[in-house]
Parts: sequence; C-alpha cells; structure tokens
Amino acid sequence: MSRIIDGREIAAQVRAEIKSEISLLKEKTGLTPGLAVVLVGDDPASRVYVRNKGKACEEVGIRSFQHTLPADTGEEELLALIKGLNGSKDVNGILVQLPLPSHIDEETVIEAVSPQKDVDGFHPYNVGRLTIGRPLLQPCTPSGVMRMIESIGVDLTGKEAVVVGRSNIVGKPMALMLLHKNATVTICHSKTRDIAQKVRSADIVIAAVGRAGFIKGEWIKDGAVVIDVGINRTAEGKLAGDVEFEGASRRASFITPVPGGVGPMTIAMLLKNTVEAAKMASCAA
Ligand code: GUN
Repeated sequence: MSRIIDGREIAAQVRAEIKSEISLLKEKTGLTPGLAVVLVGDDPASRVYVRNKGKACEEVGIRSFQHTLPADTGEEELLALIKGLNGSKDVNGILVQLPLPSHIDEETVIEAVSPQKDVDGFHPYNVGRLTIGRPLLQPCTPSGVMRMIESIGVDLTGKEAVVVGRSNIVGKPMALMLLHKNATVTICHSKTRDIAQKVRSADIVIAAVGRAGFIKGEWIKDGAVVIDVGINRTAEGKLAGDVEFEGASRRASFITPVPGGVGPMTIAMLLKNTVEAAKMASCAA
C-alpha cells in the first residue's frame, strides 16, 4: 500500500512560511503584497476558483483586488485594465483567470501582463527563463507538485519521469522542472502510441490529462510516485482524479489524493509567487 501525500497539510506549511515572509517584508519595507484577480464572464467553476483565491489571500495577509467583467467585454477593454494594473503600486501580482471568452485572444492577454507581476508564470518571458533554468515566476501547479515531491524526500536524479499531458499550464512547465532536477523526462499526449507502456516504465508519474480515471492502476510500476493533477467531475457528481486511485495506491510508494492533493498546493504557490513579486517590487523601488 502506498503513503498519501497530503496536499492540504503541505499547503498549510507553505502558507505559514508565507505569513512570516509577509511580516518580515512589512517590517522592512512597509509593503503589503497585493494580488489582482481578473475574471471575464460567469463560468461557474472559474467563479469558485477566483473566490477561493481571494479568500486564501486574505488569510495570509495579501490584499486582494477582484475585477469581474461581463462576458462580452472587448479585448481592448481587458488590455486597458491590465495596463492599469501593471502600473499600480498596490498590485504586485496579476492573474487573469483562464479560459477567456472565445472572442479574446489568450496569448495577447498573457503577454500584456508585466512579467514581474505574472504570478501565473505564463508570460513568454517567464516561460523562457524557466526553459533556460533561470526561473523568475513559475507556474503554480507544477511548482506545487515539485514541493510535494520534495516533501517526501525523493531524489529525482536519474529517475524516469512520465508526464501525461502537454498543456502550457501544467505539462510543459512540469517536464522542465523535473528535467532541471535531473530526471529523464517523457511527455505523453493524445497522439502518443502506447501510453500504458510509457507509464509502466515510470518511477514518477504526473497525470495532467483532465479525464477521470484515464491512468489505470495496473499501469503503475511497483514503488512509483504518483502525482494526480486532474480534478474531474464524474457523472455521479463526485470529484475524481486522472488516476484510478484504488488500483494505483496498491502499487505506488506515494500517491496524491483527489481532492486534497495537488489542488490546495496550486493556490498556496500562487500566494508564494505574489510574495516573490512583492519582494522584487520592493527591491526595484
Ligand atoms: N485556469 C485553470 N488553471 C488556471 C491557472 O493556473 N491560472 C489561471 N490564470 N487560470 C487558470
């Protein structure tokens, strides 16, 4: 049987560290970190995420500025808002909740955010820095995964890591972070032949597909570490990960649950990035 990596517990540790960093920052510079969260439209899941991000900020002492715009907001108007936030001294981090309505070009919006305030780590500047191994602000979900792997004391050097999913938000940055820790990394995606065989060879499996139970328990190698990034709603209305938890947990050495695994880590790392951005702003001032 495997041991559970408890995302709620590790996220609480991260938040405690953040609280003391914020106290120190206030003491030294008088600065209170601020995060602007922009939501366009009324996607119910996005609304919940945005509300949770606001609550999490307040809990650790980050000021939260929420901007909710109607679904028919034009791209120019959104870009003008971002320009204002880029110039605001109170705002250290800017997060534009994705997905955006289809009439708005996501890449244009991502590039409009100042790289120094890009707490999502999605701007090409931050993507480039991560790629060359000199990260500034890094994407929150893969950073959270790395923190979870660190917490179990696994050395990634020479390990076979298989990332299932190639999104800009999770799969690609995840692969780079594992690579920088000297893992041998394979990225699988919808066109990969025989994903089962790739997963079977993995010491570390990162599942970020967005399909409930896509990774079968029997694919997991004995003793592997299994990190499940998926948060899917089943036909019965339950939350389920991308991995068949029961079967996988019989084989894995460590596994993350859904819910209570990677999810809480993502928000914790967002708060951490906001504090990092505030520190950068205080140094630049
Ligand atoms: N939508 C789903 N995940 C994310 C994320 O990490 N950041 C933003 N901005 N939007 C998302």
